Amino acid sequence: MLTGGGDCPGLNAVIRAAVRKGERAFGDELVGFLDAWDGVRDRRTIPLTVESMRGLLPRGGTVLGTRRGSPFDTPDGVDHVKQSMDDLGLDALIVIGGNGSLSIACQLHTEHGLPIVGVPKTIDNDIEGTDVTFGFNTAVQIATDAIDRLHTTAESHDRVMVVEVMGRHTGWIATQAGIAGGATAVLIPEIPFDLDQLCTRLTRRHDRGRYASIVVVAEGAEPAEGTLEMEEKVYDRFGHVVLGGVATRIAHAIGERTGFETRVVQLGHVQRGGTPTAFDRVLSTRFGVAAINAVHEQAWGKMTVVRGPNIELEDLTVAVGKTRTVDRELFDGVASHFFA
Ligand code: F6P
Repeated sequence: MLTGGGDCPGLNAVIRAAVRKGERAFGDELVGFLDAWDGVRDRRTIPLTVESMRGLLPRGGTVLGTRRGSPFDTPDGVDHVKQSMDDLGLDALIVIGGNGSLSIACQLHTEHGLPIVGVPKTIDNDIEGTDVTFGFNTAVQIATDAIDRLHTTAESHDRVMVVEVMGRHTGWIATQAGIAGGATAVLIPEIPFDLDQLCTRLTRRHDRGRYASIVVVAEGAEPAEGTLEMEEKVYDRFGHVVLGGVATRIAHAIGERTGFETRVVQLGHVQRGGTPTAFDRVLSTRFGVAAINAVHEQAWGKMTVVRGPNIELEDLTVAVGKTRTVDRELFDGVASHFFA
C-alpha cells in the first residue's frame, strides 16, 4: 500500500481497515511503502499488521508518509516500480491517492499491466466516479466551525470577513461550508466572480441594517475577465499552479470599492490536519475493506467508490484527466438562495 499526494484525514483509517480485513479474513501479509513513489523506488517499506495499526482510526495524516511526484518523472521510474514489486514478492499494490496518484496507478495498470487497485482520497472532493471522497467532510466541518466563530467578531466590528478555503479548481468545500456556516456570499472557481456585483450586494445588505458579512472564497476562484486585476500565476516544480492568497486580493478590493473594513482568514492546512469526522472514519473504513476485497477479486485497474448507500468498484480510467466540479443544482438551486 502507499499514500500519495496531499495528506487527508482518513488515510490511516483506510490502511487500518485493509490490514484488519486482509490479515484476519485472508491471511494476507501487508507492507506499506514510505513516502509514496519515493519509497517504492528506494524499496523503503514497513510491515503493516493488525497490531501495528492500533490507535490509528482517529489519527489524521498518514503513517506511511506522502509525497507528490511520479515514477513517470524519470526514464527508469516504472522499471523501479516493477523491480520493487518483484523483489518484495508483492501480489498487488493498493494506491490511496487523489487525481494525480490515481492517474499514475491507472497508467501503471493499463500500459504496464501492474496489479493495482485505487482508493480515492482528497479533501477537495474533486474525483470523478465517486459521490464523495473521504477527508472532504472533515474539511467542511473545520471550515464551518471557523465560519461560526467569525460571525461574532465580524458583527462586533461591522467588518467584511473574507475566508479562503482549499479545494483547488473546485468549490466543493466553499459551497458546503458556505451553506453550513450561513455565509453572505461564496465565490467558487466554477463561476467567475464579478467583484462589483459582490460589492453591490454587500452594500445593499449593509444599507438594510445588517452588520458584517462573511464572504467564503475557494482558493481557485477567479474573477470574470476584466473585472479585477490578479497577480501573475506561479507554478510548482510539478507544473501545478500554486494556489492560496486570492482572498487577500479580494478583501483589499472590497475595502477599496465599498469603504468597509475587511479582514482575511486563510484557513490553509488546518483544513487537512487532525482527526477525521465520524463520517470520514466510516467511509475510509468501508473503502479499506473494499480495496482488500478488490485485491482478492483481482479487480485490477479499479478503484473503490461510493454511490448512494453502496460501495462499488469503478474503472480508474473514469477518474483520469477529469475534475469533478460543484453540482450546479446544489449551488444554483440551493446555496445561492441563502447567500446575501
Ligand atoms: O489537494 C489537496 C490540497 O489541500 C488542495 O486543497 C490544496 O490546494 C493543496 O492540496 C495544497 O497542497 P500543499 O500541501 O502541497 O501545499
